Amino acid sequence: MNIAVFGLGYVGCVSAACFAKLGHSVVGVDVNPVKVEMINAGKSPIIEQDIDQIIAEAAAAGSLRAVTSADEAVASADVSLICVGTPSDESGGLNLVYIRRVCEEIGAVLAKKQQYHVVAIRSTVLPGTLETVVKPILEQSSGLKVGEQIGLCSNPEFLREGSAVRDFFGPPYTLIGQSDERAGDTLSQLYAPLQAPLVRTEIKTSEMVKYANNAYHALKITFANEIGSFCKTAGVDSHRVMEIFKMDNKLNISGAYLKPGFSFGGSCLGKDLRAMLHRARHTDLDLPLMQAIIRSNQAQTQRAVDMVLKKGKKKIGVLGLSFKAGTDDLRESPMVDLIEALLGKGYDIRIYDANVSLARLFGANKAYIEHAIPHISSLLCNSLEELGEHAEVLVVGYNAPEFLPLIRQPGRQVIDLARVVAEPDELGGAYDGIGW
Ligand SMILES: NC(=O)c1ccc[n+]([C@@H]2O[C@H](COP(=O)([O-])OP(=O)(O)OC[C@H]3O[C@@H](n4cnc5c(N)ncnc54)[C@H](O)[C@@H]3O)[C@@H](O)[C@H]2O)c1
Repeated sequence: MNIAVFGLGYVGCVSAACFAKLGHSVVGVDVNPVKVEMINAGKSPIIEQDIDQIIAEAAAAGSLRAVTSADEAVASADVSLICVGTPSDESGGLNLVYIRRVCEEIGAVLAKKQQYHVVAIRSTVLPGTLETVVKPILEQSSGLKVGEQIGLCSNPEFLREGSAVRDFFGPPYTLIGQSDERAGDTLSQLYAPLQAPLVRTEIKTSEMVKYANNAYHALKITFANEIGSFCKTAGVDSHRVMEIFKMDNKLNISGAYLKPGFSFGGSCLGKDLRAMLHRARHTDLDLPLMQAIIRSNQAQTQRAVDMVLKKGKKKIGVLGLSFKAGTDDLRESPMVDLIEALLGKGYDIRIYDANVSLARLFGANKAYIEHAIPHISSLLCNSLEELGEHAEVLVVGYNAPEFLPLIRQPGRQVIDLARVVAEPDELGGAYDGIGW
């Protein structure tokens, strides 16, 4: 395939060189004439393992060259990969000036070309950028329509500087957010030789995955650093601790705890974080991330309270009181906090939780329910029908199949804190999820 690569920085240079190595004919475009001259001389403008040899071979074979203007590159290309920088502006916002300029340049060439062309954004851009910025510019400057003569894709890059070539040929997955099937089919062909899962999705999802990835990487580094600082004050070798930590691929290095939903609760997480923070304070150790976890968890509970307040209805039915399905444990249940906040504002609440109802009669939690939260215990209903008759708004605390018929009944507002259905749209306009 013929490919134009815009921006010959870390991402563009590696993409251009590696696609040429995969057998494509690549023309790189950069406003910086030094980078262009270097590529044409078979030299790499960036320092990166293996890149010098790939560029030297591709330039000598004629499969990789570079130019300073879009005309020549786009005129002969089937696909344009945009890899220009998206730096922070002074206020921290995303500066799209280079993206806009390149799109105008590509659109102007496409106006003359009148031939199907796919534009793929490899630069990191916030969700909605392709729809609200890239698409209008391309359509306006070319006079063509995305989804017809132009295919538009989000195609984030996951390489790391220092191992960029290795990462290009062995990515965790190839991600394509597509305007339409034809666009996705065309772009997918470029990646066919790579042994990596190919994920094709909506454009906004693809744009967002890149941010979720990078935020998570930053979180992991900071988490490991704070564990390191805590270990040091406790006289424990943090590397030994994290080696063992990483061996748990059921809960630690796994998909566990990564579904957006309601605040965490239960007898351990809050208690143990508080104990760590208490110890840290006594050793003058600042752990901003650990502190923020507790604040963020409280903010999530407040978010749920605000969702109920916004509905403007007073008769609330709560499905699930314990902090997760399959337990009667109410210690630090954020549902209890939510209910107490609403009771304080005069809301008329009923609750259904089969496990808690049972525990109220004879479980180990009987004493806790009777003495610590008697005001909440008295709101428990004996059946889902009873709850349904009372509720104008249902608040779903955890996912239990027995709740679904009531949730699906028309005529009530539903606030879902647990993502009870995979496709929320099926529940219509009366449904609202806390993080979706
Ligand atoms: N560097 C990384 O490790 C990495 C990894 C994944 C994603 N990203 C993302 O990829 C994008 C590019 O990052 P980078 O590190 O390669 O940037 P970079 O700053 O190294 O390179 C950007 C290049 O774009 C060129 N450019 C600017 N305007 C142009 C125009 N109108 N026409 C042609 N070229 C133009 C610049 O001259 C520069 O060479 C960013 O959005 C970044 O967030 C970077």
